[in-house]
Amino acid sequence: MPWPGLLPSFCIQKLFALLPVQVYHAGSTTPFWSPIMSHTAGRHFLQIPGPSTVPERVMRAIDMPVIDHRGPEFAQLGKDVLAGMKRIFKTAGDVVIYPASGTGAWEAALVNTLSPGDTVLMYESGQFATLWKNLALRLGLKPEFISGDWRHGADPAAIEARLLEDKAHAIKAVCVVHNETSTGATSRIGEVRKAIDRAKHPALFMVDTISGLGSIDYRHDEWGVDVTVAGSQKGLMLPPGLSFNAISAKALAACKTAKLPCSYWSWEEMLAPNRTGFFPYTPATNLLYGLREALRMLEEEGLDHVFARHQRHAEAARRAVNAWGLEILCQNPAEYSPVLTAVLMPAGHSEVAFRKVVLERFNMSLGSGLGKIADKVFRIGHLGDFNDLTLMATLAGVEMGLELAGVPHKKGGVAAAMDYLTGAKTAARAAKAA
Ligand SMILES: Cc1ncc(COP(=O)(O)O)c(C=O)c1O
Repeated sequence: MPWPGLLPSFCIQKLFALLPVQVYHAGSTTPFWSPIMSHTAGRHFLQIPGPSTVPERVMRAIDMPVIDHRGPEFAQLGKDVLAGMKRIFKTAGDVVIYPASGTGAWEAALVNTLSPGDTVLMYESGQFATLWKNLALRLGLKPEFISGDWRHGADPAAIEARLLEDKAHAIKAVCVVHNETSTGATSRIGEVRKAIDRAKHPALFMVDTISGLGSIDYRHDEWGVDVTVAGSQKGLMLPPGLSFNAISAKALAACKTAKLPCSYWSWEEMLAPNRTGFFPYTPATNLLYGLREALRMLEEEGLDHVFARHQRHAEAARRAVNAWGLEILCQNPAEYSPVLTAVLMPAGHSEVAFRKVVLERFNMSLGSGLGKIADKVFRIGHLGDFNDLTLMATLAGVEMGLELAGVPHKKGGVAAAMDYLTGAKTAARAAKAA
C-alpha cells in the first residue's frame, strides 16, 4: 500500500497502465507519470537547421516586462533594431520587421511589388523554393519554375538563358533561395545578380536568406538584391516569430504600381512610423528586446568571425560524414552550406527511424527529410550559438545513433571532425608564431 500522499499519483499510474497507448515526455523514453524518473537530465540538443538554440543572453533580454509600444522607450528600441538589421543585411536602404514567421515575409516581398498575373522566375533548389513558388501561385502570380535536382544551388547560367529569351520582359521578378535549408546547398547570389545584368533584364531580384542571415556572408546592396527575406529563428539566434524584408529603392518604386492586395504587409504603412522607431500595429516587443541583444552578440563577435566559425564547423561536419562513408546531398563543394549538412541515408534505411533513435536515446533533434527527399535524408544543423563542443556532441550523437539504428557506416567520423578542429587550431597557432 503506497503512502496516502502518493495515492493520487499511484492511482494515475495504474489508470494509465491500463491504457493501450503510453504517453512520453518529449525526447524521453520515460512515461510522463513516472514519479521516479520523470526528469530528462541535461539539455535538449536542438540540432535542426533552425529554429536554433536561443542563447541565455537573448533569453534574459526577452524576459522583461512588456512596455508601451507607443512610448519613448519603445522608440529607442525600434530605432536600435532597425539600424542594427541594416548592418546585418549590409544595406543603406530600408528594412522592415514583421511579427511573423519567414513565410509572411515571403508574401510581403511579392505583394508589395507585383500585380496579379505577373510572371516570376523561380529556381527549384529544394523544398523551400517549392513552397515559395506555391505561395506565388496562390497569390495569383505565374511562377515559372526552372527545375533543379535538389543537390545544387540555383544555376546562374540557366537563369541568364531564360531571361535572354524573355525579350518582352514579361518576367517581373527573379526569386532565389540563398541557403536551401532542405538540401544544404547555397546559391551564389552575387553570380545570379551578374547573370541578370548580363541579360540586361529589368526584373526585380528577390532572395530568401531566411536560414542564411547571421550565419553566411550576405550583401544586400553590393549584390544588387531588391528584396531580401529573412527570419529570426536561425542565424539571428532568436525564437521564431520575427521576419524581415530588406528593400532596394527599385523595389520601393515598384510598390507604387503593384496591384496585388497588400494591407498588413504594406511597406508604406510600415515605413512611415518606422522613421521614428514605431510600428503601425502592436509589435512583438519582447522579441525585439531579444533581437537587440542578438545583434549585440553578433557584432561583439564580429560578423566575419561568425561566418568563419560557421564555415569551420561545416567543414568538420562534412569530414565526419565522409569518414562514416555516407554521402552529402549537396554535390557542388562551392555550394556547401555553412549552416547545415544534409546526409543521404544508405538505400533501404529510413531517416525517420534513425532520428527517432537519436531523439529517444540522446535527447537530440536532427532535421528531417522534406518534400521529395522525405525519409531519404537527415540534416545536421550547425548554426547560431554553436561552438566546437556543441559540434562534437552533435556528431557523437549522430555516430552513436547510426550504430544503434543499425545504419551501415564506418567508425571514425567524430575523430575526423576532432582532427580537423584541433589541426586547424594548431595551424593557426603556427602561423601566428611564424
Ligand atoms: C530557406 C527557408 N525559407 C523559408 C522558410 C519558411 O519560414 P517559416 O517557417 O519561418 O515561415 C524556411 C523555414 O525553415 C526556410 O528555411
